[in-house]
Amino acid sequence: MSDDSIVSASAPGKLILLGEHAVVYGKPAIAIAIDKRFECTVFPDYTDTLNGIPIDYEHHPHIKYVVRKNSLANIGVETDSYIPSGSGLGSSGALSSALAAAIREYAGLPFDKKEIAKDAFEAEYYAQGKASPMDTSCCTFGRTVALNYPFDDMNELMTMEKNGKKWSISGSDAPDMTFVIGYTGIKASTTELVAKVKRYTDHSTFASDIVDEIEFVTIEGMKCIKRNDPVGLGKMMTEDHKLLSILGTSCNELNKLVNAALMHSYGAKLTGAGGGGSIVALTDEPEKVCEDIFLHGGLPFIVKPDTVGVRIEEPEQ
Ligand code: PMV
Repeated sequence: MSDDSIVSASAPGKLILLGEHAVVYGKPAIAIAIDKRFECTVFPDYTDTLNGIPIDYEHHPHIKYVVRKNSLANIGVETDSYIPSGSGLGSSGALSSALAAAIREYAGLPFDKKEIAKDAFEAEYYAQGKASPMDTSCCTFGRTVALNYPFDDMNELMTMEKNGKKWSISGSDAPDMTFVIGYTGIKASTTELVAKVKRYTDHSTFASDIVDEIEFVTIEGMKCIKRNDPVGLGKMMTEDHKLLSILGTSCNELNKLVNAALMHSYGAKLTGAGGGGSIVALTDEPEKVCEDIFLHGGLPFIVKPDTVGVRIEEPEQ
């Protein structure tokens, strides 16, 4: 490797289509990678830097994990993102995946999505005790990714284990569908929301039954994706939103955006941990849904599924 090597990699953000929170209890979940990417460039520097200034690793544990794991020093990292941070669209999963890919390439290791997915999940786990490898797997493999999917009509990509928990990760093509995101502008803590649901399920069989119902709508939703049925999938999404609301993960702002989006959508729901973040709507009238969301206080944008996952970017000439 020459001293002037500069390596860039990018990874897509993601939306969780169905199954968030239930996935923490071993149930299936489906995520779709989106056409908004996070890019990381790494290069030799006089000390470890982030976007031109010496990095404070206390505030950037993901980067610390990936750099230290590869025993690198004096490395500059530059980031460029089209994924709003805190929006529930996987900006930190995409950062971890893009950085893991760039650093592996920089260190002369082969491009291997399984290894990148592992590094990215470990970085997330180190940084925030992330409950499942959902985001990092989706940002790495791209297209449609399911965790704990119980049938054999998807490709099993890999399995992952952490602290006695095991996940199977499967992939399939990106659906030819259009989604609209509505960002509430509220940043919420995934860790706190996961803990809130745990308190509920620990004390209530009703809450555990809701988790089982989320499993049912997730599996039905996957069947709808396979037969390219947006009407059925939309119904499952809206149903999932109701179930997630019962678990206490929605909020007024999210409910308002879901109701607004439903005027011109097949279905809509919160996506990710909830408590703020974003909703996702499935529609074939994306401009109308954007307007509905905007008029109800959300920041809308249209997304199409990503088909590539993490990739090394060619250097600019
Ligand atoms: O907040 P997000 O978008 O990273 O999604 C969290 C999804 C949960 O199922 C709530 C937690 C997890 O780690 O899977």
